Amino acid sequence: MNNKEVVLVIGSGGQIGIELLAALRNMYGNDHVIGADIRPSQEVNGPSEVFDVLNNSQLMAVVRKYNVTQIYLLAAMLSATGEKFPDRAWGLNMNSLIQVLDLAKEKHIYKVYWPSSIAVFGPTTPRNQTPQHTITEPTTVYGISKLAGEHWCNWYHAKYGVDVRSLRYPGLISYTAPPGGGTTDYAVDIFHKALSQNAYTSFLSAGTRLPMMYMPDAIRATIMLMQAPAQNITIHTSYNIASFSFTPSEIAHEIRQHIPDFQMSYEPDFRQQIADSWPQDINDEQARADWGWVPEYSLQAMVSDMIKNLKQ
Ligand code: SER
Repeated sequence: MNNKEVVLVIGSGGQIGIELLAALRNMYGNDHVIGADIRPSQEVNGPSEVFDVLNNSQLMAVVRKYNVTQIYLLAAMLSATGEKFPDRAWGLNMNSLIQVLDLAKEKHIYKVYWPSSIAVFGPTTPRNQTPQHTITEPTTVYGISKLAGEHWCNWYHAKYGVDVRSLRYPGLISYTAPPGGGTTDYAVDIFHKALSQNAYTSFLSAGTRLPMMYMPDAIRATIMLMQAPAQNITIHTSYNIASFSFTPSEIAHEIRQHIPDFQMSYEPDFRQQIADSWPQDINDEQARADWGWVPEYSLQAMVSDMIKNLKQ
């Protein structure tokens, strides 16, 4: 491990950020990993900064203050909220990325991680075993921004040699921090409501199958990708990765193995249309071949672990 690395995690208070910050602090040491978010953090294990990622001079000041070498840029507006605030979603998701890529182009930092999403796919994409290279015609502002961002990453790599790496995350399930404004968020809410009320009303229909992943696998994939030798990276847009897929009715069935009287009802809203435009399951053979990706958690193992942790 290079102990000269200084890692800045932007969006460290979010669903992914909280867990990635902890994992990176374990790897590099608390003082070598800086948390940054627009809201002050409760986390006190290491340095943290409060700033708006769109404020370029503040971003630059933080990079200089700590001699940052790598940035994980997680700040973003997700699919459901993005449809309500399209300008803000586009502004945040695009401008933050370009600013960070420019820092790498100008050699202030040397490595960038930026998450993409299954939202780059759309209704014309093959929905089963969706390949790495396929039709990408997204119908959400979030998806458009992720697709454009993937191509910016590819362009900065091709033109300036920027080492930027990316994963197309499926819906992410975790118990530490709630997600905000995504279409796949029902798969987190359902656990909280199952434990507090024994009942949940899903905003997606019973049979809506989507690709999902448990957060420990997502964190492990992210770190594996970032640690892979540069010559192994053949995808400079963003890698497909997969774990398991399920429908609302299938996850309800799994939850009933632990909470037998759990009641599920369905009231699809505008998010149904977003979900219907996304793949049902993803082919991740390129990630497996290039840097050894293999998921660990099954649906059953994820449900048991979520319930065990949320009960505590
Ligand atoms: N989980 C995200 C969303 O639902 C997809 O990347 O918006």
